[in-house]
Amino acid sequence: MSDASVSPSSAPFHVLITGGSSGIGAALALQYARPGTHLTLWGRNPERLTEVAAQVVRKGATADTLSLDLCQTDDALAELRKTDDARQIDILILGAGLGDIRPEGALTEKAEEVRNISLVNFTTPATLATEMASRMAARKGGRIALVGSVAAFHDLPIATAYSGSKAGLARFSTALHAAMTPHHVSVTLISPGYVDTPMSQRLEGARPFLVSSRRAAQMIARAIGQGRAHLLFPWPFAIARFVEMIVPRAIVHRLLRTAEVRQRPAR
Ligand SMILES: NC(=O)c1ccc[n+]([C@@H]2O[C@H](COP(=O)([O-])OP(=O)(O)OC[C@H]3O[C@@H](n4cnc5c(N)ncnc54)[C@H](OP(=O)(O)O)[C@@H]3O)[C@@H](O)[C@H]2O)c1
Repeated sequence: MSDASVSPSSAPFHVLITGGSSGIGAALALQYARPGTHLTLWGRNPERLTEVAAQVVRKGATADTLSLDLCQTDDALAELRKTDDARQIDILILGAGLGDIRPEGALTEKAEEVRNISLVNFTTPATLATEMASRMAARKGGRIALVGSVAAFHDLPIATAYSGSKAGLARFSTALHAAMTPHHVSVTLISPGYVDTPMSQRLEGARPFLVSSRRAAQMIARAIGQGRAHLLFPWPFAIARFVEMIVPRAIVHRLLRTAEVRQRPAR
């Protein structure tokens, strides 16, 4: 892929990625890494953050890392303001996410886990995107991407918090896109199907139409560069979304209730 498709303007520029310690976020860090670019990588695990930063630096970029818990929304907002004051952010990628499914034999997910998923997948990214949109609009330029999921478009009985939080994020993102377009700020919603990362590797069973994290990062960077409102991939999930919209909900729910998914413990 050419450099122009991932660079919003002339180098140097600054890309902040939440979830930069793993999976899609780490692949995006490597995708953007080149001389003249500064990567700010956020995550929880300091060792993994340091490892990704080292890879980014080997590709000629500069990088710094911050270990923080996105359940602490106010702390994350303060850190974003501090980072942007020190070095203007050109691209903000809100990639961090928390996935979980109902424990085997339980009727519901755990209440505390639902709270955490809501904070990491919706509340904090929506808060950070809003702050960044306001700052970028004032300087008449910038790009924001929010990583949702195709789960947003389905009522998943075993992952109500995941599908619900991603649905909220999807609507938030396209609404912010509508609000920010006249102000030269692009807001791109990313809705991936299965991507080969530690998150999906926890799932036992099939991962249809699996995409590598490198390929996902290429597609995401291109969509951000083009300022698209929405990227959904791979395409069979767009068909699944359409089918679900036209089939009566009671039938869809009956089918979804039969879905048996198990997962291994997180790292
Ligand atoms: N993989 C898929 O099949 C798939 C499909 C659809 C959507 N997505 C979405 O893609 C995004 C990236 O996921 P991934 O597949 O790359 O998963 P991953 O490898 O598990 O990475 C998740 C990232 O989110 C960070 N994170 C999680 N909870 C956090 C918290 N409380 N505070 C700060 N950071 C936190 C993790 O940090 P640490 O590792 O440092 O803890 C990690 O960097 C997520 O939003 C996910 O929902 C993934």
